[in-house]
Amino acid sequence: MKVGIVGAGMVGSSAAFAMVMRGVASEIVLIDRNEKLAVAQAQDILHGTPFASPTRIWAGGYEDLAGADVVVLSAGVSQEPGESRLHLLERNAKVFGAIIPSVLAHAPQALLLVTSNPVDVMTDIARRISGLPSERVIGSGTILDTARFRALLGEHVGVSPKSVHAYVLGEHGDSEVLWWSGAVVGNVGVQEMAAQMNRPIDTEARARIEDAVRRAAYRIIDGKGATWFGIGSGLTRIVQAIATDEKALLSISAETELYDGISGVTMSLPRIVGAGGAGASLVPKLDDDERKALLRSATILKEAADSVHI
Ligand code: LAC
Repeated sequence: MKVGIVGAGMVGSSAAFAMVMRGVASEIVLIDRNEKLAVAQAQDILHGTPFASPTRIWAGGYEDLAGADVVVLSAGVSQEPGESRLHLLERNAKVFGAIIPSVLAHAPQALLLVTSNPVDVMTDIARRISGLPSERVIGSGTILDTARFRALLGEHVGVSPKSVHAYVLGEHGDSEVLWWSGAVVGNVGVQEMAAQMNRPIDTEARARIEDAVRRAAYRIIDGKGATWFGIGSGLTRIVQAIATDEKALLSISAETELYDGISGVTMSLPRIVGAGGAGASLVPKLDDDERKALLRSATILKEAADSVHI
């Protein structure tokens, strides 16, 4: 598996590092308009390969993308403290307009994996600029929010997050929907499991978990200026599913043909991810409040995407 990463900042380099540590790629090429940064990141990660998997990693130009199976798009500006992800749209749309043609010129066969924020709208923009089929232009979406939700539920209930199956849907952003009614441990609802463990998810606990998931990025950004390890790990998980044709159910962003009357919205649903990118998506069975919230999130994303003229 050859992976190209366009944008060698903290997110792109953290993804590259995690991929080396998890051994999901045989080759990784880092591209950045700041060539000195790309070289430094590649060298720093290369020096760790003897402790991990034998991955060939280097900094190059777009021509080095030849033969890439996946190209991660992590270029662009990131949130300032207190800034919402949607506020980055205009600036990052311009960045994509500049880089995607160069990516396709050298790697027309690659899957595009978008992570620049606002990731759902940026995924939509990447699909429109590239003209690729929607299953081959995917975004990290709410894979990180879902991980945060699962980690916090597992911590509260006292069980490994790997045994908690819960998803965050819609926008990777302020309108995201935590799918509480669908959260299970084993095949038992998470509220039932919590009660059995004598750790009930009462109103306070639910509000605490909800806030911690929604505000995680804002808090981390306030503390260290940006997030990178969580998203780097999430990107690696997606690349692993593609590399092994795993057909894993992951909450990632892709164009959704029709959701609740809205056609062609790019948002996160649990989708089957394998060698071809995004496969079938799970239609979530939501309670009334969740359904209204997801419809609101889809509307926000559709309006934001329609506001960008390619
Ligand atoms: C976050 C960034 C990746 O949620 O949007 O950490």
